[in-house]
Amino acid sequence: MDIQLDRTSRIPIYLQILNRFREMIISGAMPEGALLPPERQLAQELGLNRSTVLSAYRELKKEGLVEARVGRGTTVLPLPSQERSDTENATLSWRHIFRTDTARSQSPLLRDLLALSERKDVIPMSLGLPAPELLPVDLFQQIQTDLARELGPTLLQHSPTEGVTELRETLCDLAAERGISCDPTETLILSGSQQGLDLASRVFIEPGDTVIVEEPTFFAALQTFNAHQARLIGVPCDQDGMRTDLLAEILERRHPKFIYTLPTFQNPSGSVMSLTRRKELLQLAYRYQVPIIEDDPYCDLRYEGDSVPSLKSLDQRGLVLYLSTMSKVLFPGLRVGWLLAPREVIRRFTLVKQSMDLHCNTPGQWVINTMLRDGHYQTHLNKVRRAYACRRDIMADALRKDAPSGFEWTKPKGGFYFWCRLPDEVERSQLLAESAAAGVSFLPGWPCFVDDPGCTYLRLNFSFAGKRAVETGVARLLEALHHSCRKQSISAREAGGTPPIV
Ligand SMILES: Cc1ncc(COP(=O)(O)O)c(C=O)c1O
Repeated sequence: MDIQLDRTSRIPIYLQILNRFREMIISGAMPEGALLPPERQLAQELGLNRSTVLSAYRELKKEGLVEARVGRGTTVLPLPSQERSDTENATLSWRHIFRTDTARSQSPLLRDLLALSERKDVIPMSLGLPAPELLPVDLFQQIQTDLARELGPTLLQHSPTEGVTELRETLCDLAAERGISCDPTETLILSGSQQGLDLASRVFIEPGDTVIVEEPTFFAALQTFNAHQARLIGVPCDQDGMRTDLLAEILERRHPKFIYTLPTFQNPSGSVMSLTRRKELLQLAYRYQVPIIEDDPYCDLRYEGDSVPSLKSLDQRGLVLYLSTMSKVLFPGLRVGWLLAPREVIRRFTLVKQSMDLHCNTPGQWVINTMLRDGHYQTHLNKVRRAYACRRDIMADALRKDAPSGFEWTKPKGGFYFWCRLPDEVERSQLLAESAAAGVSFLPGWPCFVDDPGCTYLRLNFSFAGKRAVETGVARLLEALHHSCRKQSISAREAGGTPPIV
């Protein structure tokens, strides 16, 4: 098989194999029905681990280019032109028209969770949204009416790609309250901070580039970096945040494009990186000249204790790109997030953003500007802090009351989530389905890791559901958990093994 590998390239080997097969299939060199070499044989021929070849074949299958059948091996599927020649009436095969890498990292689990959140009988503890009944909808309406009167058509016109100037100025005032000094030319308004993650990927990542993330981390960030074919390296965290000793070892060997971190009320773990670690992280970034992307959606949602300065506010050398959003305190639907970064970075991000959406929604930016400028944000923040602190306490009490032994969690000082480690005997593949049947959903932990963590975690949200629903949701989850532990111990006994201690 003619597959030349470039072992010095930054493109991972499995991708090189994938690309070569794709080329041969699309060019017709491997026609419909052609047999791919068995994985083990190809791995031997190329001097590789079998799992590398397996990954390439798995992607080819996802892209709909090949199929694997027991006893027949892996064969090439028909391309759309071949399908068309079969019959005039054949339906268009979209999967051959889609760009192949757009199927990358589309996890059915996350789609299922979103579908679950639509079900009225399921208490959604899988989401990361503010409480719907606390959103100041009347105020929003009033502000929009006032703005329409004041600004006329400007409210509904195009606005600069960088964002409405007044909002950029107001966000510099908010940044100052967070200890960050910047001017409007160092800000970029984003369609949610999620767009910042996508822009960072487009601007920085070439296929095979290394990106460093915390483990666990925000699953949507992992999806985004994966979609851009980053090679992800996870750095474990402890109660003080990212393990900088391990990071130092990695930076000795690899030169990543950036380090992605959520130092304050981390999603999913809820932890806060200590000041010492923050300083160590910055020193490492300076020494190895690696930018840091600091994702900071939850810093204002602190329910107890003193705040710790953001990396951006501690940064003396302009290496930190700071992302934040209005989605957690105010209206996620308005899609207003922002980036604070050196001007050169803002200019490049702006260029790329221009071809994505030209600019963010203009009225949404004006509404957020007014809410910040006129003090409504602060008033609302005080209100939701009290409400969320109360829901958090209810969740902690409910967990304390009835969690099975081996179920570990810590009460977060802020943010939206409890991060829980499950007893080893829980059958994790069943738990989500059993919980959904019992009327509650959660986010399983595995999408938050680069590689399978080996043990089972879950993330529970306490901001979205009301007080009573939080209590009921935890009760339903723990019931499903107890059930799952019991089932496991019975099957272990039946298999003659030692029953786990529950
Ligand atoms: C850590 C983190 N970053 C980014 C986002 C995306 O927020 P936005 O709605 O601003 O896109 C979220 C939302 O859950 C988040 O938790």
